[in-house]
Amino acid sequence: GEARIGLIGLGTMGAALAMNIAEKGFPIAVWNRTSSVTQDFHSNAGDLADRIVPTRTLAELVDAIAAPRTIILMVPAGQPVDEQLEALSPLLGADDLVIDAGNADFHDTTRRANSDLPFGFMGMGVSGGEEGARHGPSIMAGGTPEQWDRVAPVLTAIAANAEDGTACAARMGVEGAGHFVKMVHNGIEYADMQMIAEIYGLMRDGMTMDAAAISKVFDGWNDGPLQSYLIEISAKVTAAKDPHGDMPMVDMILDRAGQKGTGRWTAIEAQHLAAPIPVIEAAVMARNVSARLEDRRAGEDRFGAAPELCEFDPATMEQALIAGKILCYAQGFSMIAAASDKFDWSLPLPEIARIWRAGCIIRSAMLNDMADALADHPDRNLVMAPHFAELVEAALPALRQVVSQGLGAGHALPALANGLMWFDMMRTARGTANMIQAQRDFFGAHGFERTDGNPDKHGPWGA
Ligand code: 6PG
Repeated sequence: GEARIGLIGLGTMGAALAMNIAEKGFPIAVWNRTSSVTQDFHSNAGDLADRIVPTRTLAELVDAIAAPRTIILMVPAGQPVDEQLEALSPLLGADDLVIDAGNADFHDTTRRANSDLPFGFMGMGVSGGEEGARHGPSIMAGGTPEQWDRVAPVLTAIAANAEDGTACAARMGVEGAGHFVKMVHNGIEYADMQMIAEIYGLMRDGMTMDAAAISKVFDGWNDGPLQSYLIEISAKVTAAKDPHGDMPMVDMILDRAGQKGTGRWTAIEAQHLAAPIPVIEAAVMARNVSARLEDRRAGEDRFGAAPELCEFDPATMEQALIAGKILCYAQGFSMIAAASDKFDWSLPLPEIARIWRAGCIIRSAMLNDMADALADHPDRNLVMAPHFAELVEAALPALRQVVSQGLGAGHALPALANGLMWFDMMRTARGTANMIQAQRDFFGAHGFERTDGNPDKHGPWGA
């Protein structure tokens, strides 16, 4: 075969990725379970069709690729991946390499990487949706350095480029490291979206602003420190009109959020790692609450909606969002650091911030400075890095004002409030867990450590 690479699964993401690979000059062989999809894809590939080899069977696909072969899998996460690996087993050898580019659970990727598949296996997180896959995603690869070196030319060529020209593709570590980082990316995505939605809610319900006015505020923020893809699309979303009437589109959308599970995975994994990520957890919780539409309606009937108005100027809300965002990312990166230790992955924190600067859903201007801060401060707590410590210090009064006034007036701000709560706990040298320890020792003789170094582990609670 002549193809440089193969791809299995021509759904939205797979098709876009295949076009991207072909466009960057790599001949690619493609296969889809339903052959007509493969044929349609090829006939619609336009100028790129002569770099694409459509194949009808897996054996044909394998034959079409130059050895040693690399095949990207873009099929639904879970069982379909295992089935596909199984089907490829008789066809591939030890020099061949299969890359799962779906949104896999990283535990599955670790299991597959350590299983006795007769070929090499990598798991790779790809972010940026269809548009990203087609024109430049952010790529978080898991695998050995040798595997990465082999596929790096293709992956860096198809990835997005940051402003400084560097490709947003990198090796995160072995086993499920790539999919783990993609999972945390999605957790942060949930949190960024939730914090924006909370501020949107304050403007809509607290300040009775209409969608057009809210759009202007978001649009303005996109020229400042909050400049990001999610703020940009929030401005666009609030500006759009419903094609079936003349209401703002956003006002016609039911307030019930979908989720495919990666945010939930992040929250669950954070608990296993004992990594505090309350902003992300709050964002997952908020989606779960949003799903309980009937309960919320009954709640409002019984207790009433948030009654009081509150007034904030946009600059205060912008500062609150800046603080919330930094706190959220600090939590996300510290969770990555915790996983790095637990799984022995040496996850490259600054590199992670770097490859999130373009291509992915959470791309933002702030990630530039985060990459620098994480490189300079291997202690890894972003909030303690001088640049961000100063930003947080400056923005904190605004976050406090927004959270306390918002909550005071009955507006739920779970993500922002949890960010603030985490911050206050993390800058409290003398917390209240002495009380927890005293209670544990009282009812279960669990013992405690004393502040004065005296080795006595128990209190005078005995009969
Ligand atoms: C990305 C997105 C992508 C997908 C999410 C949506 O980075 O390109 O995160 O992976 O759009 O899975 O997740 P929910 O359906 O859970 O909101």
